[in-house]
Amino acid sequence: MIYLLGGSGYVGQAYQALLARKGIPFRNLRRADLDYTNPALLIAALRADRPEFLINAAGYTGKPNVDACELHKGECLMGNAVLPGLVAEACTAASVPWGHVSSGCIFTGARPDGSGFTEGDAPNFTFRQDNCSFYSGTKALGEEVLAGRPNLFVWRLRIPFNEVDTPRNYLTKLMRYPRLLAATNSISQLDEFCAATLACWEKHVPFGTYNVTNPGAITTHEVVALIEKSGVHPKKYEFFPSEADFMKVAAKTPRSNCVMDSSKLASAGIRLTEVHAAVESALRNWKKSPAS
Ligand SMILES: NC(=O)c1ccc[n+]([C@@H]2O[C@H](COP(=O)([O-])OP(=O)(O)OC[C@H]3O[C@@H](n4cnc5c(N)ncnc54)[C@H](OP(=O)(O)O)[C@@H]3O)[C@@H](O)[C@H]2O)c1
Repeated sequence: MIYLLGGSGYVGQAYQALLARKGIPFRNLRRADLDYTNPALLIAALRADRPEFLINAAGYTGKPNVDACELHKGECLMGNAVLPGLVAEACTAASVPWGHVSSGCIFTGARPDGSGFTEGDAPNFTFRQDNCSFYSGTKALGEEVLAGRPNLFVWRLRIPFNEVDTPRNYLTKLMRYPRLLAATNSISQLDEFCAATLACWEKHVPFGTYNVTNPGAITTHEVVALIEKSGVHPKKYEFFPSEADFMKVAAKTPRSNCVMDSSKLASAGIRLTEVHAAVESALRNWKKSPAS
């Protein structure tokens, strides 16, 4: 049996669907039912239920976007930096291996030669550089809190998307924003992310940090071209003339745009679809929301 923290959230619901589909028994913990931010309560539950593995999909993302984290700093710090440390203490005390959903948003740009950041590169969009959003800073702190912990996977998710039209889906966001920021990113097909991370545990790959993004990188212009080609949301897509203009008009805090290298995961035998093919597939199977 698996314990799932934050299973009611956007990422957590994708884990619930995967576990249900695979027939793997799990318990979705909600803070309202069992306050897993209290280590004593979490340890007692782990010792009573003895799950084989725990997935931490809990955290504070800010709604409708990371700008909200600038206003709710206490909750953001608690969810992204303090909570991972408390879960680590509980899992160590109860001898339960676990996986933590982190984020690639602790990086900006690419390596000097244009290649993606590897798990060996130090994050460069953090409070240490003082160039980041509060959200990214807390996610990087969360990884620092977990550094060196045994029996732990740290999985970096980036800009999730799939074929389901919802305000949390990157493709839906691009379709609905009045104007777009041109950028280059590595991104994660959400269901492939969940399947790949679960496979880390199922296949006994070595514990540690993994970039879990679809191989390659894609520009906003390329995603828009694929949306236009698919015909799922016809409109005239407009772009900000520059990032400075985007910051002036549409954002309160800098965004992470970055290229990640996911070859460590591939070398462990876990492969995701190439990024352009994954976006095309999501658009081919697009499930339009009745609300849109
Ligand atoms: N969505 C993205 O774009 C994205 C990208 C990269 C990484 N991530 C990471 O993926 C994880 C899940 O994100 P998500 O998009 O699924 O978020 P979400 O939809 O907001 O769900 C997160 C869940 O975390 C739980 N939680 C525990 N402590 C919290 C706190 N202090 N504040 C708010 N929620 C708290 C809540 O569950 P209960 O109250 O029911 O327990 C909530 O439902 C986070 O760690 C996030 O940083 C997300």
